[in-house]
Amino acid sequence: MLELKNAGKRFNSRWLFQNLNFQVQTGDFISILGPSGCGKSTLLRILAELDTLTDGHIIQPATTTPGFVFQESCLLPWLTVYENVAIGISKNTLTNSEKSDQIEKILKTVKLKDAASLFPHQLSGGMKMRVSIARALINNKSILFLDEPFAALDDFIRFELQEELLEYWKQHKMTVFFVTHSVTESVFLSQKLWLFPQGDQLQFQELDLKKSDTSPHMYRQSPEYFKLVTEISDRLRGKK
Ligand SMILES: Nc1ncnc2c1ncn2[C@@H]1O[C@H](COP(=O)(O)OP(=O)(O)OP(=O)(O)O)[C@@H](O)[C@H]1O
Ligand SMILES: [Mg+2]
Repeated sequence: MLELKNAGKRFNSRWLFQNLNFQVQTGDFISILGPSGCGKSTLLRILAELDTLTDGHIIQPATTTPGFVFQESCLLPWLTVYENVAIGISKNTLTNSEKSDQIEKILKTVKLKDAASLFPHQLSGGMKMRVSIARALINNKSILFLDEPFAALDDFIRFELQEELLEYWKQHKMTVFFVTHSVTESVFLSQKLWLFPQGDQLQFQELDLKKSDTSPHMYRQSPEYFKLVTEISDRLRGKK
């Protein structure tokens, strides 16, 4: 559904990556993993058509309804939780009651039903991120772009949101591009990795993660998970 062909990006004289050839199928969950400055956010912006390639082509699916989540929760401080989520509705054809049904449903999904009338300054960091995720998910988005959405959160909240995102993805099977620095997060969440190893070769490499179909909670404790984390960490450090 989405394809990169000989894709390359350069800022001034510095190439971030060259000759990327990746195919993405509808419903893939892809993590983009690599050290700071390697070009993860730039690649995500290109996939989301917010930036352009220097070389090669990107073939986009015919129709998409994209949702975005950035590292900062990016809420409008003068709007309530309910109103911030409403901004994510892209279809103008919905009636007011259809809109409010959708907002209430998604607020329930992200466990913010009781916080609908609060303003951003009244929320914790985890709650703000939940609002941002609700705004991205509302309207059954077909493709999600997330740029280190959980980076500023403590492990407890982070694990909870990772599991919720995964459950939502399993139910709705939208395509997800998820940028992260974290090997554990990328292994836990995704089926495919675009990994930027240290070394001379300036390139993202694609890896298919073969994972058994256990519950997210059990998977995080499994030997299979720890083995993959070690393997990917070695690759990232250019040891494989
Ligand atoms: N608009 C721009 N003009 C010039 N250089 C840019 C521009 N945007 C990004 N860069 C440079 O491209 C490189 C990659 O930036 P990018 O933000 O994609 O990295 P990243 O992998 O997301 O890093 P981080 O993990 O720190 O967020 C950086 O060296 C950055 O300075
Ligand atoms: Mg970035």
